[in-house]
Amino acid sequence: MCGIVGYIGKKNCVPILINGLKRLEYRGYDSAGIGIINNGNSKIVKNKGKVSVLEENVNNLQLTANIGIGHTRWATHGIPNEINAHPHSNESGSLFIIHNGIIENYRTIKTDLQNLGYKFTSDTDSEVLVHLIDYFINKGYDLCKAVQFALNEVVGTYGIAVIYNNEPDKLIAARKGSPLVVGLGENENFIASDVSALLSYTKQIVYLDDGELAVITKDGFTVKTISDKEIQKEVHEISISLEEIDKSGYPHFMLKEIMEQPDSVWNSMRGRLLHEEGTAKLGGISEVMDRLVNSNRIILSACGTSWHAGLVGEYMIENLTQIPTEVEYASEFRYRNPIISKDDTVILISQSGETADTLAALREAKNRGALVLGICNVVGSTIARESEAGVYIHAGPEIGVASTKAFTSQLVVLALITLLVARKKNLSAAEGRVIVEALQDLPEKVYQCLKLNETIEQIANEFKDASNFLYLGRGYNFPVALEGALKLKEISYIHAEGYPAAEMKHGPIALIDENLPVVFIAPKDSTYEKVVSNIEEVKARGGRLIAIASENDNDIDELVDYSIKIPDTVEMLRPILTSIPLQLLAYHIAVKKGLNVDQPRNLAKSVTVE
Ligand code: G6P
Repeated sequence: MCGIVGYIGKKNCVPILINGLKRLEYRGYDSAGIGIINNGNSKIVKNKGKVSVLEENVNNLQLTANIGIGHTRWATHGIPNEINAHPHSNESGSLFIIHNGIIENYRTIKTDLQNLGYKFTSDTDSEVLVHLIDYFINKGYDLCKAVQFALNEVVGTYGIAVIYNNEPDKLIAARKGSPLVVGLGENENFIASDVSALLSYTKQIVYLDDGELAVITKDGFTVKTISDKEIQKEVHEISISLEEIDKSGYPHFMLKEIMEQPDSVWNSMRGRLLHEEGTAKLGGISEVMDRLVNSNRIILSACGTSWHAGLVGEYMIENLTQIPTEVEYASEFRYRNPIISKDDTVILISQSGETADTLAALREAKNRGALVLGICNVVGSTIARESEAGVYIHAGPEIGVASTKAFTSQLVVLALITLLVARKKNLSAAEGRVIVEALQDLPEKVYQCLKLNETIEQIANEFKDASNFLYLGRGYNFPVALEGALKLKEISYIHAEGYPAAEMKHGPIALIDENLPVVFIAPKDSTYEKVVSNIEEVKARGGRLIAIASENDNDIDELVDYSIKIPDTVEMLRPILTSIPLQLLAYHIAVKKGLNVDQPRNLAKSVTVE
C-alpha cells in the first residue's frame, strides 16, 4: 500500500529512486512521483499512472540530484491524478513529503491550517503533513523538530519521508503503522517501505518500529522516538537475492510464482520433518509449545488469501488435535471485543507481515494475554517481529498481487504446526509418519499439477468470456473454492463466488443456467459421493461443469464438461494440490482477457491501511 523510497549520498538519486519504485510498484500503482533537491533547487515530477510513465518524464528532463524521495500510490483520499500524487510540497516548494497510511484527523488539521492562510491543492489527507511541518518550521524549529511536532498532532498511520531545501544534508523518515526500513551503504543511505527496493544497493537494513523517526545523512543515521528519546537500533543483514525478485523469463510474476511451487512448498518444510518420530520440528515455536498444546482454543486470524489458508488450518487443527479452532477476519476480530483469555492461542497469518488489520488483531490478542503466534513470509516484517513466536513460511518473495505460492506454503506450515501439536496429544508416531511421508511427496505432486498448465489454458480459452463463475467444494475443498473464486475475481474481474457445495441449493442454484461455469473441487475424499450429487444437480439445470478431480476418477468424466485430474495425497494436504489448477485457470483467463495480472486494478499487495 503505497511504496516509499529515498536516497541521500554522492550518486545521482534519480535512477535509484525510479529503480526502487519499480520494485515497489506492487504496493500501489495509481500514480508515481519523485522529489529531489539539487544545489538548493528542488523539483517534483509526478504523474497519474505507472512508474514507467514517470521514468519517461524524468528521462526527458535529465534530472540529477544527490538527495531525493519517490512514491508510488494506492489511492485512499482523492482520486488517482497528478495533483493527488506524491510528493506533496509546501507553498514555496522548499519542503517535500511522501506518505503511506491515513491521517484520520486530517479534516480538523486542514481547517486549522486554512484559517492560518495555508493553501491546499490536493484532496489527499497526506497534504496536511507538509503544511503542518512547514508551520512548525516557520515557528523557528529545525526540520527534525518540526516533523516531531507535526507528528504529535496527527492521529492515524504513517510511513513518511521528508526533505527540505534549507537542510539538504538530511532525509527524515518516520513510521507509525506503515512499514519503513533504512538501508545503509558507503557514503550513501536509503529508506524504503520494503527491502526489495534496496536490494541492488545494500543488504544492511535497519527496521524502524512504530513511533520512531530516523534522521539520515549520507554518512550515517540516528533514530529517536517522536518525543525525542534516542534509540539504538540493530543492523540486520538480509539474505534475499535480486534474482528472487526478477521474473526470470516468465511473462508475469504470478506465473513465475505459480511455477515455483514445487520449490517453495519444499522450502516451507525443509529441515522441519522428523520422519522416525512422525512429527515436525519448528524452532520458532519450541519455547511456547506447552502453551500451544494446552490451549483451550486456537483462533486463526488473517485477511484475503491468508484467511482462506486459515480456514484450511481450522479443519486441520480441529481434525487432528481436537483443540476447538476458529477463524476470524482480522478486520472483524479487532473491533468485535473478542472473548480471549490467556489460555487461548491466536495465530496471525500474513504473507507480507504488514497487513494493518492483521497487525491490529495481533496487538488486540496480545493485550488480552493470549499466546500470539505469527505465520509470515517476509522475514523481519512487523507481524513477525511483534509475535511472541512464529514460523516463517520461506516461500521466497511474492511480487504478483494475487497470492499463490504463499498460500500453498501457508498450508504446509499449518500442516506442520498441526502435526507437531497432534503428536504431543493423541496422534501416534505411525499416523504422524503417514503425514510426514505425504509432505515429502508433495513437491513432486505439485509438479504433476503444474504439468496440467496447457490443458488448463485451453479450458481458460473456453470460459474467458463468462461473466460469472461459481466454485463449489465441501470440507477441506470449501476454502479452496473460496480461494479459487478470489483468484479469478482479483485478476480477471469476472464475478466469482465460492460456496460450500451443499449450500448451493439454498441460493446459488438460482443462478445456474447454460451460461454459468461451475467449478467443483471434487477429489475422491470423504465428501465425494455427496459432491457428485451436487454435480448432478448443476448438470440437470444446464450449468457448464469443470471438476478438479482425483487422477484415478474416470466416472466423473461422464458428468462434467472438463475434468482436471490431480494426484492424490492425504486429506489434510489436498488443498495444496487442488488450489494449483485454480491458480492457473484464473491466470490464463486474465491473460486471455488482456489484463495486467501482476497489478490488477484497485488492488495492492500489502494493505497497510484499515
Ligand atoms: C491483499 C493482497 C492479498 C492478500 C491479502 C492479505 O489483499 O492482495 O493477496 O491475501 O492482502 O495479505 P497478507 O500479506 O496479510 O497475507
